[in-house]
Amino acid sequence: MISVCFTRPIFLSTLQLSLLLKLMNPALTKIGDQMSNLTGVRAIMKDIIETLKSGGGQDLINLSAGNPLILPEVEQLWRDCTAELLASQEYGEVVCRYGSSQGYAPLIEAVVKDFNRRYGLNLTDRNVLITPGSQTLYFYAANVFGGYTGNGDLKQIVLPLSPDYTGYGGICLVPEALVAYKPSLDIDAAAHSFKYRPDFSQVSISESTGCVIFSRPCNPTGNVLTDDEVRKIAALAAPYNVPVLIDSAYAPPFPALNFTDMSLIFGENILHCTSLSKAGLPGERIGIAIGNERLIQVLESFQTNASLHSSRYGQAIAARAINSGALAQIAEQVIRPFYQNKFAIVENALEAAMPKELPWFLHRGEGAIFSWLWLQDLPITDWELYQELKKVGVIVVPGSTFFPGLKEEWAHKHQCVRISLTGSDTEIALGMQRLAKAVEQVYQRTPVSA
Ligand SMILES: Cc1ncc(COP(=O)(O)O)c(C=O)c1O
Repeated sequence: MISVCFTRPIFLSTLQLSLLLKLMNPALTKIGDQMSNLTGVRAIMKDIIETLKSGGGQDLINLSAGNPLILPEVEQLWRDCTAELLASQEYGEVVCRYGSSQGYAPLIEAVVKDFNRRYGLNLTDRNVLITPGSQTLYFYAANVFGGYTGNGDLKQIVLPLSPDYTGYGGICLVPEALVAYKPSLDIDAAAHSFKYRPDFSQVSISESTGCVIFSRPCNPTGNVLTDDEVRKIAALAAPYNVPVLIDSAYAPPFPALNFTDMSLIFGENILHCTSLSKAGLPGERIGIAIGNERLIQVLESFQTNASLHSSRYGQAIAARAINSGALAQIAEQVIRPFYQNKFAIVENALEAAMPKELPWFLHRGEGAIFSWLWLQDLPITDWELYQELKKVGVIVVPGSTFFPGLKEEWAHKHQCVRISLTGSDTEIALGMQRLAKAVEQVYQRTPVSA
């Protein structure tokens, strides 16, 4: 056995050294190789962190973050729920014991009661699964429904509207299973605004589809698929018994980060998936799947094998916040207006600073905590623009990281950036002024051909 001591020098034989190197560099399986590589936005986070660290005296405005801000009312809610839990008899039961893989019973009950009351559903406790964050839920679903069947058939994971959440890029152990479709663009040129819509002439859902996933409201674009579009996707999937996972990480009732009206759509083949991360609890990792009992059972078994169950402390405080109604109330009255106001700041700042004649388009701000800017015919790539913006002290995320599963080349992929709404009002306004100036210079260096 080799022991390594860090306080005094040690001398290893060649054999020991090669053993040590082998230990540090184990041979990886195909899956190991794939899962030890970061995908999408996480891959560029390293560059962002290094830029922020080495910023020196440069005043950098970081508009790349996906981490929600700590809003005082939200933090207070979780403090109060924690104090209640600590003072209760329940505490030991919550943290000192293992529990059911399906989730902590009081949280499941709270979700069932809340959703039945709000949306007129007939859920029972068999319709709900709690996972350690919703990312885990998509990982389970992608591998339960997507990939190769026992017969060797490939079941696809369909993303009906690209761009979408970068995290879908790493969830399937069979990467070739992920297929995304180019959207159509609904452009309001005069208003410098646009919206993505699913292109139903392209989207294909068939017997070779394993499941469908999309975020609504969408990270990165802030798009909200209309109720009709969602119903249409669910109807296309229904004849093949294909589950449709609606990623509702930003949807009502919590965190209620929709700035436009939207109904939650439920159905036999719909798994409504939500998360408490954007409602102030990302550190506690709580994902919630609501849907058909059979789908829930399959995912629950996967969870038992993978991780036993989610942390129960977060679940216990979540049950309190849902039962009292405080979580939904704070979501509507604090979280939603806070980010909606930030979007208005981006919109107004760009409107004021961007040259009117340039073909820039801001995606309609319908929800989530981001805005999405498309620079048509941008003479450089989104990655190069990201570098240019760093030089003027603004950090955004290059858009091409948000097209997981989209195989075909599409110039548009390299013409967008994601701007986080988590900056201060001043940072956002100043950041947009700097961005406008930098973008203007980029287009001036290589004018857009008419
Ligand atoms: C659209 C979307 N889905 C899922 C997640 C994952 O969230 P969590 O695992 O914290 O629930 C995120 C996180 O940013 C997201 O933006």
